[in-house]
Amino acid sequence: MNKILETIKCYFDDYNEHDEITILSNTSAIINQLFPDINWVGFYLFKDGVLKLGPFQGKPACMIIKLENGVCGWSARNMKSIIVDDVHTFEGHIACDSASNSELVVPIIIDNSLYGLLDIDSPLYSRFSKDDLNTMEDIIEYISKKIKRL
Ligand code: SME
Repeated sequence: MNKILETIKCYFDDYNEHDEITILSNTSAIINQLFPDINWVGFYLFKDGVLKLGPFQGKPACMIIKLENGVCGWSARNMKSIIVDDVHTFEGHIACDSASNSELVVPIIIDNSLYGLLDIDSPLYSRFSKDDLNTMEDIIEYISKKIKRL
């Protein structure tokens, strides 16, 4: 069972809420609480042709990421999830927090177009498994149906 998704559903099913800030804020907070060994979790939203920082938990991060740059840019360009076991070997990786050593990114596609992405960083190398990726993709699938763009 995906305990994180179940917790998110418990919160969200009590409300008929579709505001993106509300949904993304609590999603990042719940993942941060229930998913161990991470130092940053949050969202970048695809607006004006770039990725703009959205709701997150962790240290302040870069506010704008171009699609050519970083792990986030790769995921956004390719509209594919990615696990990076050692971010220092990923060409163009953007180090928002020098403590980060591995990373997981899941794109959010709504109505066949890029809406944004979920980004998670860990201070551990090879922190993220295929199961973790599936867990996060299930969460993204659930919240994608809830979100209405502002
Ligand atoms: N490391 C990311 C940038 C975002 S921060 O990790 C929050 C990247 O390379 O795209």
